[in-house]
Amino acid sequence: MQNAHPPNSSASPPSVAIVGGGVIGLSLGWRLAQAGCRVTLVERNPETGRGASWAAAGMLAAGIEAEPTEEPLFALARWSQSLWPGFAAELEAASGLPVGYDATGTLVCAFTRDQAEKLRHGIAFQRGLGGVFDWLSAAAARAREPGLAPSLVAAAFSPNDHQVDNRLLATALAEAFRRAGGHLITGVEAAIDLAGARAVGIVAGETRHPADIVVIAAGAWSRAVPGLPAAHRPPTRPIKGQMLALRMPPTAPLVRHVVWGGHCYLVPRADGRLLVGATVEERGFDPAITAGGLLGLLDDAWRTVPGIEELPIDETWAGFRPGSPDDQPMLGATGIDGLLVATGHHRNGILLTPATAAAMAEMILTGRTPDRIRSFGIARFEKEPRP
Ligand code: FAD
Ligand code: GLY
Repeated sequence: MQNAHPPNSSASPPSVAIVGGGVIGLSLGWRLAQAGCRVTLVERNPETGRGASWAAAGMLAAGIEAEPTEEPLFALARWSQSLWPGFAAELEAASGLPVGYDATGTLVCAFTRDQAEKLRHGIAFQRGLGGVFDWLSAAAARAREPGLAPSLVAAAFSPNDHQVDNRLLATALAEAFRRAGGHLITGVEAAIDLAGARAVGIVAGETRHPADIVVIAAGAWSRAVPGLPAAHRPPTRPIKGQMLALRMPPTAPLVRHVVWGGHCYLVPRADGRLLVGATVEERGFDPAITAGGLLGLLDDAWRTVPGIEELPIDETWAGFRPGSPDDQPMLGATGIDGLLVATGHHRNGILLTPATAAAMAEMILTGRTPDRIRSFGIARFEKEPRP
């Protein structure tokens, strides 16, 4: 691993430049500014938080989304999940803005015997890793969520899989970052400023911003940040997700829990929106909303909660998850001195926000890689071992 700190770093906190104003860059910037670092964050869109962080559903689903072979990710996700209540409260206090943290929990539905058996296997795996689930009969699940289809066979309730309103989250993070003294630049693309084999800052438009540490937090676009030699580009790729929002009567919401159907999820928001997501597509950065994408989501949502057919459509959108070759994040040092990455969060970037910010800030402040993120180093994708 290369050094996070410059060779002559003093006892004062390092200055940091961050590329990308999604939830990952903003939360890290906030933590570092709180710790006394001089932080410059550059977002190329006119507003922060309009990438994947805007497109997401906001599920904090460490349990439901865990898959075999992803045990290290599950540990990081569980840690982040445990940080969420305190993180949300602290962020709301620091920004003066709500983030819509909701602890109602998640129901995973099975509509056939086969789906029920698959669900039993899935929760057995997740329970083995410490996940908490209650197995519910169809009647018990429909007592919790009366809008579920009568064809329901069984369900699992995950009390610890909560949700946050990711759009409110992104807005609150930008405000907290500013209030902590962070320097936010929007509407201009950032490039990495290299001096030999060391990152010495970023260039935004015509302006150089020198920094002791540079962090790439550019989501699905991290591979393409200008100034990076080809051999050092983080191997991110966009994983497209289409979603839509329906509008429920806020006083009589059709759905109260996060609900997973066979091939979709439904996420009810406090303002009456019911999000339905999401496709998982390898289409590059194609932003098209397709008939087939929406048809699949609506069909599965209707099979899960038939009453949705009465609801008006409020919005449709597509976003790009920052994928990595093994679907797990890339956190920490790179092959370039002074250059770190925090990207590749794929389906879990909202969930992993508090843990990523805490661990990356610790790394920058101490110069050491915290154990919790040791297995997420980008070196795992390099063909040649580092000297
Ligand atoms: P982004 O939010 O994409 O931010 C990266 C930013 O970098 C962008 O704003 C971009 O404009 C900027 N940028 C890029 N290049 C440059 C440059 N050169 N200079 C300056 N700025 C630059 N996760 C969950 O945990 N729960 C969910 O329920 C969930 N649902 C999802 C549903 C969908 C449909 C999608 C698409 C994603 C979902 N995710 C979910 C994943 C989550 O949204 C992402 O993992 C997370 O938002 C990644 O955050 P980020 O800050 O890394 O990226
Ligand atoms: N985590 C939900 C999604 O990525 O669609």
